[in-house]
Amino acid sequence: MPNIDLIFKNESASRTGSLKHRYAWALVFWALLEGHITQNTTVFEASSGNTATSEGYMLNLLGVNFVVIVPDTLEKIKEDRIRLYTSEIIKTYIGKRIERAEEEAKKRNGFFMNQFANADRV
Ligand SMILES: *[C@@H]1O[C@H](CO)[C@@H](O)[C@H](O)[C@H]1NC(C)=O
Ligand SMILES: *[C@@H]1O[C@H](CO)[C@@H](O)[C@H](O)[C@H]1NC(C)=O
Repeated sequence: MPNIDLIFKNESASRTGSLKHRYAWALVFWALLEGHITQNTTVFEASSGNTATSEGYMLNLLGVNFVVIVPDTLEKIKEDRIRLYTSEIIKTYIGKRIERAEEEAKKRNGFFMNQFANADRV
């Protein structure tokens, strides 16, 4: 295709090595601005790995507690990455992730970030 330039962005060059890096920052920034996260908030998220790693990185910078709800089929390499930023990982059936994250957040008076439902706001 003459006269067409293709420009690639290398998302793996981000600090968390994930294409969710920027999105995670947007989520955390939104939650801060909206007052969902304060000093002692525990944040909960349902994730298959990448978003949790990036969110964990951002929340770690802020010193905010983070609990991740992942599918019980999560690959070890992804779990290891998430564990760099949180010690608390809850495994559950993949179809129950969101429900479980919501429940845990309610039970422990935390904030469920909900990357799926809040994407439009972010
Ligand atoms: C993308 O970034 C990673 C991490 O910095 C680097 O190892 C890799 O070589 C880069 N890929 C390209 C195609 O530049
Ligand atoms: C957070 O927790 C600390 C220690 O319990 C407490 O001193 C502080 O007032 C709390 N901050 C907020 C904003 O609730």
